[in-house]
Amino acid sequence: MSQAAAPSDPVGPADPADPAALAGRGRPAAPAPPAAPVKVAVLGLGTVGGEVVRLLAESAGDLACRVGAPLELVGVAVKDPAARPRPAGLDRALLTDDAIGLAGRADVVVELIGGIEPARGAILAAFAAGASVVTANKALLAAHGPELYEAARRAGVDLYFEAAVAGAIPILRPLRESLAGDTVTRVLGIVNGTTNYVLDQMTSNGLDLAAAVRQAQKLGYAEADPSADVDGHDAAAKAAILASLAFHTRIPAAGVYRQGIGAVTAADVAAARATGHVIKLLAIVERRESRGVIARVHPALVPLAHPLAAVRGAFNAVYVEAEAAGELMFYGRGAGGLPTASAVVGDIVTVARHKVGGTLGPGESTYLSLPALPVAEALTRLQIRLVVRDEPGVLAAVAEVIAGHGVSIEAVRQTPGSHGAGLADLTVVTHQAAEGALQATVGALAGLDAVAQVAGAIRVEGE
Ligand code: HSE
Repeated sequence: MSQAAAPSDPVGPADPADPAALAGRGRPAAPAPPAAPVKVAVLGLGTVGGEVVRLLAESAGDLACRVGAPLELVGVAVKDPAARPRPAGLDRALLTDDAIGLAGRADVVVELIGGIEPARGAILAAFAAGASVVTANKALLAAHGPELYEAARRAGVDLYFEAAVAGAIPILRPLRESLAGDTVTRVLGIVNGTTNYVLDQMTSNGLDLAAAVRQAQKLGYAEADPSADVDGHDAAAKAAILASLAFHTRIPAAGVYRQGIGAVTAADVAAARATGHVIKLLAIVERRESRGVIARVHPALVPLAHPLAAVRGAFNAVYVEAEAAGELMFYGRGAGGLPTASAVVGDIVTVARHKVGGTLGPGESTYLSLPALPVAEALTRLQIRLVVRDEPGVLAAVAEVIAGHGVSIEAVRQTPGSHGAGLADLTVVTHQAAEGALQATVGALAGLDAVAQVAGAIRVEGE
């Protein structure tokens, strides 16, 4: 057996030219990396970009050892290079407003601009120049993923985007690589931290939706215009990416059914609590054998016993069901500069390693080409809250409408009306049925004479 190497001097000065000496002070010295640096360009210096630049500088020694070559920041593209403040220690000479020009002179381009253009153009320019790309841009991937994958394939470079879904949580690499030998059947996720925070505030502190959104804005979770989060656009883009990776098929954001949390009321939250549930905005993508994929984003009642019910505040979690692995749960911070930067820098290290080793990571895997099925085919359960006339035959009439749509009732609960004399609150929970039949049932119930109001109809998931 060979003798262990003597540990390096834990307190002696490190040679700043030697990344191995800077890395892991006090641990056994790692071999010095080859000299040729991997040139990194960062496009966008917002909350995430600032943290990425900081981590690249702070962890330079460790990252060089992990990559096998130093990472050299060759430029940072911003809208206005003269604007202040900038991250401490950032050499202002690296700033440029020419994102596309910068993308053409790096080995690894990190796109953190967001939105469609100029991000798309800059990424295509990077590929054309032979650079690998790391991006956190879920909207761009959901809208133009196939085009970007194809351009990366033609250029023989990597496209990595772990930070695009659920921030710091490693979920895309597990789907792309760790579960590549399994058959994923369903992914159920809380992938939007802002809406999870809002719903949690409504549940835990009794806030109404508007007050909870204002609170989320104050804390920096929600934008001044919160619609991308509140209306479910952000979650739908993430659902499209999850579905594409999980099911080896192309699912665009337009193929995802989307309903945000804008209509969730304090009464819905109270009713959920009364039946042992919490309301979560879920992204659900599921495979229907070889027929296709259903991808949907909507609020849902989740039983308190389900692991997703315990995801509080702005945290995210993704629950994966696979044929061989069974159930897996990934949990962590889905937003925020530093957590998201962790995923971005992890991707930078990976693609830089590939550059050094002359290899590539997995490209697009869409060999199944399954169609996106209409949400009407989704199987779900519904909790329907009705205000009904408290008269003989009303329960029978309600039951007849439900049965007439081929839907089976799991539970019925009537409580004395909070809506005035002669009225009662009736809550019906259905067994699993097709979404189309359930929505038709709700429509028919709304038209019954005995029904004064459909007070709420929320899907029940996770049971
Ligand atoms: N706005 C998103 C969220 C973070 O609240 O989860 C970025 O995707």
